[in-house]
Amino acid sequence: MPHPPPVRVAVLVSGGGTNLQALLDALHDSPLARVARVISSRADAGALERARRASVPTAVLRDPGDPAELLAALGDAQLVVLAGYVKLVPAAVVSRFRGRMINIHPALLPEFGGPGMYGQHVHDAVLASGATESGATVHFADEEFDRGKIIAQERVPVRPGDTPDSLAARVLEAEHRLLPRVVLDLAKRIG
Ligand code: GRF
Repeated sequence: MPHPPPVRVAVLVSGGGTNLQALLDALHDSPLARVARVISSRADAGALERARRASVPTAVLRDPGDPAELLAALGDAQLVVLAGYVKLVPAAVVSRFRGRMINIHPALLPEFGGPGMYGQHVHDAVLASGATESGATVHFADEEFDRGKIIAQERVPVRPGDTPDSLAARVLEAEHRLLPRVVLDLAKRIG
């Protein structure tokens, strides 16, 4: 039985792209899935350079709130991954990719998520709460920030003396393990 072609994955980015890099590395030569395009909300995102180095087509959105522009940029993608993407996805795009769009968040949702809860703010809040563990969450993305059904999580300890930076680094390592695993699992079901 010949392999079906790899699932075409579109990755939405806004920042440095370390999660994108983890996907590029994990999906390199995979028969299951490939990063087919990288779409950024910012022209200066470091993630764009990572895509170019991997010869992956890129696009920069003029207006991330415009559903037509984003749908055109997504083209024939079969799975959409928000990886460090900080904008809300327009409802028409969420509908088109219902059940096929995921997001990674650097905390154990449903705690420490929602508007304004990104980057440093997340780890500040986790430390302030006295929580003894944090982690990464991959969930289905919908019309709101960080609210969709949780797919998988990976927990990490919060250590005494942790700073937001030391906790962020530990969580980021968990993200880089979790996201590729979830994408490959989903690709097996979509492909
Ligand atoms: C990561 O913590 C991710 O969870 C959050 O943005 C941070 C940076 O992501 N959404 P990346 O390095 O741009 O992939």
